[in-house]
Amino acid sequence: MEGNNQVKIKRELPIHIIGISASGISGLSLPIQKIIQSAKKLSAPKRVLSNLKEWWNDQNSKYPFPDYFESDKPSKLINWLKKQDQQIVVLASGDPLWFGIGRILLSNFPSDRLIFHPSPTSLQLAFSKLARPWQDANWISLHGRDPSPLLKLLQKKPETIGILTDPNKGGAKEVIEILCASQLDNIYQFWICERLGHEKERIFQISHKEEVLPTLDPLHLVVLIKKKPTEDTNLDIPLFGIEDSFYLTHNDRPSLITKREVRIQLLADLELPQTGVIWDIGAGSGTIGLEALRIRPKLELLSVEKRLGGKELIQANAKRLSVSPSKVMEAEALSLLKEGGIPQNLSKPHRVIIGGGSANKTDLIDAVLNRILPGGIIVIPLATLESLERFLLMLKSKGCESKISQHQNFRGVPLSQGTRLQPTNPVFIVKGKLK
Ligand SMILES: C[S@@+](CC[C@H](N)C(=O)[O-])C[C@H]1O[C@@H](n2cnc3c(N)ncnc32)[C@H](O)[C@@H]1O
Repeated sequence: MEGNNQVKIKRELPIHIIGISASGISGLSLPIQKIIQSAKKLSAPKRVLSNLKEWWNDQNSKYPFPDYFESDKPSKLINWLKKQDQQIVVLASGDPLWFGIGRILLSNFPSDRLIFHPSPTSLQLAFSKLARPWQDANWISLHGRDPSPLLKLLQKKPETIGILTDPNKGGAKEVIEILCASQLDNIYQFWICERLGHEKERIFQISHKEEVLPTLDPLHLVVLIKKKPTEDTNLDIPLFGIEDSFYLTHNDRPSLITKREVRIQLLADLELPQTGVIWDIGAGSGTIGLEALRIRPKLELLSVEKRLGGKELIQANAKRLSVSPSKVMEAEALSLLKEGGIPQNLSKPHRVIIGGGSANKTDLIDAVLNRILPGGIIVIPLATLESLERFLLMLKSKGCESKISQHQNFRGVPLSQGTRLQPTNPVFIVKGKLK
């Protein structure tokens, strides 16, 4: 059908961009092999050249091996392509329009000169080998890029991530470093897929504890698959300051957890007594209260979290840490206090942490201050400035000795050959001690 809006394709001097996998040219369909045979000019990555020549000789082609140009440096390739006036074929890996040479070609040549012939992407091959559906997988390329997008993606703890590695930046080793810097190394299975499609293909899993990686072909990628949380309790962990990744979190809010560095500070500020009652209000995944129990097992802990599924989550984390809170309640804390819903034996706390960012925090602090025992301590972490002064004044008006501190932490993450410091959100801690 003729139409004014139709793109007129006049493929004068087309450039054929053909994706190949590591199995080389002979793995391509015959019509595509014919296009390569008819090329007058040919460009391909250096690593493909020997396979290309072997294949050419096997064809007993009547044509001589075409004029060849190495495509490893894209800017040189573009200059070379611009000078050509004969049928050209460019060989690339997988799908040239997926983290490949396609993008840069499209910004230098009109799209009607470019004819793409994709092969499966390396990631497609990887997921086939691992026999996993990949429609929901996340993917990222570290090629010539800084690792921040991967760090950001990891914060969301997706189920699966395919990572194209950059051999110039350490390949899989760079991924291990980023994973460890995010403290997420033990929640993912770490798969290396090397030379996919090649007869020497290797697909294997490594443990994050392995110090030395096996020697790898530069052509490899990494697939991270989230491990199923185990029911097992884990005793091979520190007493407190446990890595964030150890904890189960809400699936839809995986980064909603008091970060390890802040947790450690809060536990210190609580000046935990040997015995007594501690409330963790707005407990989230329960981490602060539960770690308090590891330090002082005789404390009686009440954890309160209003999010649906909060109770189950806190109980599961308690099991993983082998600690036993006295009570976990899925409820809105202020209503609970007003309605007298707290069990009698836990109703007068010695220590209170108020996490979470509920709108009624002022009323909540007020209600807590009316319950806390003399000599008791209340600790309030805050991510915003606005309420800081108000809460401090409240504590003072109730006769508390108060203290404020600000905590800004940085985690080392790899950058090229060195380490960059990635900031975590600054947190204010307001502490009040009742006289
Ligand atoms: C510039 S990207 C090219 C991606 C390509 N366009 C595709 O569709 O797979 C190069 C990276 O892809 C990965 N890769 C490409 N081919 C591979 C193969 N056969 N086996 C393993 N990884 C491969 C490696 O991580 C490599 O560093």
